[in-house]
Amino acid sequence: MIITIDGPAAAGKGTLAQKLADKYNLAYFDTGMVYRAVGIDLIANGIAPDNVAAAEKSAKNMTFTKMLALAQNPDFRSSTGGQAASKVAAMPKVRAYLLKMQQDFAENPIAKDGSRLTGVVYDGRDTGTTVCPQAELKLFVTASPEVRAMRRHKEYLQKGLPSVYEEVLAQTKERDLRDSSRTASPLKPADDAIIIDTSDMGIDEVFAEVCRIVDEKL
Ligand code: DC
Repeated sequence: MIITIDGPAAAGKGTLAQKLADKYNLAYFDTGMVYRAVGIDLIANGIAPDNVAAAEKSAKNMTFTKMLALAQNPDFRSSTGGQAASKVAAMPKVRAYLLKMQQDFAENPIAKDGSRLTGVVYDGRDTGTTVCPQAELKLFVTASPEVRAMRRHKEYLQKGLPSVYEEVLAQTKERDLRDSSRTASPLKPADDAIIIDTSDMGIDEVFAEVCRIVDEKL
C-alpha cells in the first residue's frame, strides 16, 4: 500500500506519517530530505542555495547514501536547512534529478533496520501529485500559518534553539509562498486527496481519524 501525505511545513505530516508507517508496517520516506540534502551540500561547500548551476550539479549526483550522510549536518533540520531546501526545490531541473530517487523507493521499500516492506508512507509537498500519483490513499494535511509557526517555535525552544515567534511566522509564510507559487510541481492537493485541517486537532485525534480512513481502504 502507498500512502502520500502532502502539505505545508509544520502541518504535522512527519509525525503522522511515522505513526502510520509503524502501525501498518510500511516504510517511511520524508521526501523533504532530498531537497534539504542538496541545500546543505551547497551551504557546506560555501555556495549560496540560489546558485542554480551548483544546485543542479548536486542534485544530479545525489544518492540515498549521500543524503543520509548530509542529514548528520547540524543545520539539516534547522530553519537554515529548510529555507535552503525550499530555494533549490523551486528549480525545475533539481526536481527532475531528484524525482527518480523518490519514485524508486516505492519499488523497493526498506525499513530503518534494512528489512524489506510491502508499502510506503510518503511525506512531502508533491508526493500525491507527482512522485506517486498511483498511491492508494492521498492525504493533504494543513493548518493555519499561525498554528504551524507556533508548533515550530515550541519545537525549537524544546530543542534549546533560539526562536522568536514573529520571525518563525514570517519564515513560515515566506516558505508557503515559495512552495506554492513555484512553476514546477507546486504545493497543492491532488484532485483525489482527502484534506485534513489540523489547526484545532491534536496529533492523537488526527491519527485516529486517518487510521479510520486507512482501515476502510484496507
Ligand atoms: O518538509 P520539509 O520542511 O523538510 O521540506 C523542505 C523543503 O523541501 C520545502 O520547503 C519544499 C521542499 N519539498 C518539496 O518541494 N517537495 C517535497 N516533496 C518535499 C519537500
